[in-house]
Amino acid sequence: MTQPIAVFDSGLGGLTVLRALRSRLPQEDFVYFADTRYLPYGDRPESFIQARGQAITAALVARGAKAIVVACNTATAAAAELIRASTLRPVVALEPAVKPAASLTRSGVVGVLATTRTLASARFQRLVQTHAGTVRVIPQACPGLADAIETQGPDSPRVAALLDEYVTPLAQAGADVVVLGCTHYPWVRAGIAARLAPGVTIVDTGEAVARQVERRLQGESHLGGHGQLQLATSGNPLQVRETVARLWGAPLPVESWSI
Ligand code: DGL
Repeated sequence: MTQPIAVFDSGLGGLTVLRALRSRLPQEDFVYFADTRYLPYGDRPESFIQARGQAITAALVARGAKAIVVACNTATAAAAELIRASTLRPVVALEPAVKPAASLTRSGVVGVLATTRTLASARFQRLVQTHAGTVRVIPQACPGLADAIETQGPDSPRVAALLDEYVTPLAQAGADVVVLGCTHYPWVRAGIAARLAPGVTIVDTGEAVARQVERRLQGESHLGGHGQLQLATSGNPLQVRETVARLWGAPLPVESWSI
C-alpha cells in the first residue's frame, strides 16, 4: 500500500499529470522519472520508444512501484500494449482526449495538438475512427515544441514562434475545441488560449488520468502513503532540477538514474 505510484515521461511534460495526481491523491507517494536524455520522443522511431517504455517500466517496478502511469501520449501511442504486457502492476496510460472533444464541439471542428509520432500512430487513427463521428478532427503536429518548452522555457521567443505556427491554423479552420495531446502543452496553455478565439475550449487529460488511477487502485485496495515525492532523470540532474524549479514553482531534489 505504501509503495509509490510511478509516473514517467520523456521529460517534464508529465509533471502536468503528476500535479493532477497529487491534488487528487495527496496521501500517495509518487516517484517521477523524466527520460530527459532521450527527449524528445516525438520524432523518434516507434521501436526506440517501445524499448525505452519497457526498460523504464521494469526499472520502476524493480524499485517498488505499485502502479505505472505513462504520462506521455507519445509513449502510449507507441508502447502502451507492450508496457502492459511486461508487468503485472496496474498501468494507466493516456491518449489525446478526442472523445470528450467530439462531444463538446458545436462548430464540428476539433483541433488536436500533439507530437508527430502520436498523430502518425495506428492508435490515434483508431481513436478518431471510433470517437469522432461526423466531427472534423484536424491533427496538428508540433515538432520542436515539447523540446523548446523544456529547454528554452514556456515564455521563450522560440516557443512563441512555434505556437504561432501550430495554433493559428486551428483558429483559422474554426476549431472551437482544442485538445492538448502532449503532456508538455499544458505548460503553455495560456499561450495557446491567447492564439484562439475567446470561447474556444482547451481540453487536457491530467485530471481524467488522476481519476482513472484512483479508480484502479481503489479497486485493488492499494491506496495509501505519506505524500512523498521523488524525482529522477536519465539526463543531467542539475539541469533538470533547474527546469523543475521553473515549471513546478518549487525547488525539488532530482536523482540521476541510468536506465
Ligand atoms: N510529453 C510527451 C507527450 O505527451 C512527448 C514529448 C516528446 O518527448 O516529444 O507526447
